[in-house]
Amino acid sequence: MRQRGRPSRGLFITLEGIEGCGKSTQARLLGEYLRTQGHVTVETREPGGTPLAEKVRSVLLDRADEPVAAETEAFLVLAARRQHVAQVIEPALARGVIVLCDRFSDSTLAYQGYARGLNVSLLERLNRLATHAVTPNLTLLFDLPVSTGLARRRSASETNRLDRESLRFHQKVRAGFLDLAKRYPARMKVVPARASKEAVARAVARIVAPLLNRVHRTDAQTATPRSTPSHHTQVRHAAR
Ligand SMILES: Nc1ncnc2c1ncn2[C@@H]1O[C@H](COP(=O)(O)OP(=O)(O)OP(=O)(O)O)[C@@H](O)[C@H]1O
Ligand SMILES: [Mg+2]
Repeated sequence: MRQRGRPSRGLFITLEGIEGCGKSTQARLLGEYLRTQGHVTVETREPGGTPLAEKVRSVLLDRADEPVAAETEAFLVLAARRQHVAQVIEPALARGVIVLCDRFSDSTLAYQGYARGLNVSLLERLNRLATHAVTPNLTLLFDLPVSTGLARRRSASETNRLDRESLRFHQKVRAGFLDLAKRYPARMKVVPARASKEAVARAVARIVAPLLNRVHRTDAQTATPRSTPSHHTQVRHAAR
């Protein structure tokens, strides 16, 4: 029987954490690892993951000078999430594949809730509306000092609107994520993220391994393609 909010097939893994903690790197490495194990993956990200939601992402991260109210930010993120869940995540889980999502509902709680000060339980209710209560089976929280994450980002890519935020803001985001991990210990696993990419990837593989028996592997001979590259996957890789 299909419980509301938890499709009976597939595996839903989200990757969370502060800027520059290694989410996108580890999503890519985990996707590669899972595909070599014969699994089918959909790799996607938030905000974004559909053409419409990617447009919302551009609006959100744009460095325009107009100040953005916390509620505006929350509604935009939630609108993009509803679209993403309906168009990409739910259908993929119904097909029985592994969905890897770079940021999801916990980012809304950490950024718009803990850091910007919106009511966290209200955001949790809005998240349920946006996701139709689709909840990750596993959330990997990559944790490292804010200064390390921001330094990695500075050397990596173009800056966006959130890079202008204070150190204090990013510290609140980090503390918020860690608080969520305490509140949801069964779902959220903290992964220390200061080690090398390879060492972090090994830690991730150890956490993910016990969950893999609930998803089918494809026959290695017939599995073409093993991943399902699509518009949103390509956008993700192109952008960061
Ligand atoms: N374990 C690591 N050690 C050193 N550098 C790393 C490590 N993991 C990722 N990096 C590098 O740090 C930068 C940021 O990594 P990545 O883009 O994966 O982080 P992110 O969490 O997705 O960041 P953002 O929040 O900006 O999307 C990249 O240049 C990446 O190559
Ligand atoms: Mg990233």
